[in-house]
Amino acid sequence: MRTNTIAPPSDDKRWRIVQATMRRHGFAPDALIEALHSAQEAFGYLDDDALRYVGKSLHLPLSRVYGVATFYNLFTLKPQGEHTCVVCMGTACYIKGGPDVLKAIEDAAGVRKGETTPDKKVSLLVARCLGACALAPAVVFDGEMDGQLAPGQAASRIKEWMGDGN
Ligand code: FES
Repeated sequence: MRTNTIAPPSDDKRWRIVQATMRRHGFAPDALIEALHSAQEAFGYLDDDALRYVGKSLHLPLSRVYGVATFYNLFTLKPQGEHTCVVCMGTACYIKGGPDVLKAIEDAAGVRKGETTPDKKVSLLVARCLGACALAPAVVFDGEMDGQLAPGQAASRIKEWMGDGN
């Protein structure tokens, strides 16, 4: 079995989830899809850091990783918006009001999950579990985890981003 000495891109503990998936597959190249899937579930989308980290860990060229990530439409690459909001819809967050938070954010931004506002200010995504269930319902605003949010609080954050009195 191969070992992995590649450090994750940051201290974010969600990388541990991705690492655990790769370890389960012995860091073998054919764990690629599972690893990308796991990263997407934890972060809501795949950015450069995630693709590089998975590629290095599985000893695969970046071109191959990008190829797979862009080929399957089950994968979402980092969205276009200036700001990114990821709402958790995992079980714990769902039970604690995740759907209401998502709805409030969708209404505030005027877009649905998976979309970016026409002015490219905000991209809205959902994740399956952000690894912070104690904070349910959890939302990540520009990479920063926030939790136990009321729908109105979440909507205010989005309105701040939209700015210009929109
Ligand atoms: S279910 Fe939302 S953080 Fe785990």
